[in-house]
Amino acid sequence: MSARRARLGVLVSGGGSNLQALLDAAGQADYPAEVACVLSNVPTAFALERARKAGVRAEVVDHKGFGSKADFEAALLGVLADAGVEWVCLAGFMRLVSADFLKRFPGRVLNIHPSLLPAFPGLHAQKQALERGVKVAGCTVHYVDAGTDTGPIIAQAAVPVLPEDDEASLSARILAEEHRLYPLAVRLAVTGAVTLDGARTKVDARVTGDAGALRSPGAPK
Ligand code: GRF
Repeated sequence: MSARRARLGVLVSGGGSNLQALLDAAGQADYPAEVACVLSNVPTAFALERARKAGVRAEVVDHKGFGSKADFEAALLGVLADAGVEWVCLAGFMRLVSADFLKRFPGRVLNIHPSLLPAFPGLHAQKQALERGVKVAGCTVHYVDAGTDTGPIIAQAAVPVLPEDDEASLSARILAEEHRLYPLAVRLAVTGAVTLDGARTKVDARVTGDAGALRSPGAPK
């Protein structure tokens, strides 16, 4: 008999490659979560097609159709409740969720961000990293709080910034790690391997990597 799986609601606005990573993970028999529904505030988001192709309920809740943020979020919450969602994953969702929304899923809203937080929160994180000249970049999965990309960090993955990088090439390198990190972080969260500890988390999991540390640059040519 298989164990009951946590029901995820994934909120998207765009291409949905992180959604795809979660759908693919959920396709594995031993993964402890399933995608119960996908909601997009953008009617044309390709993520909706990904969901439908996977046989997952996909709905548009367009913020432009509502007079207030509260009404928009009430519509989101209505679908999430109807789908029996227990955990919310923001995956390229380009709206900030309110404190009232978070209260409906206490400690159960996750986000992925393409930087090593707390560096470079907000929009265009990869561009910010390039402009600042960092040599190591990466991505972060964190619990969502009322701030922008400020919630307790669950997991991070680092990649080098290469001299020839532009925003596209760095974003692609980070995105490949996002696709590994988000399913891992969701697994840790829904199985109770991560617990909130004030502004931080305690994570009962191993560190992995090809070497003890990533150095960038790490050696002369
Ligand atoms: C990702 O880089 C994610 O970290 C950021 O928005 C992007 C979404 O990409 N929040 P996708 O829609 O999952 O392909």
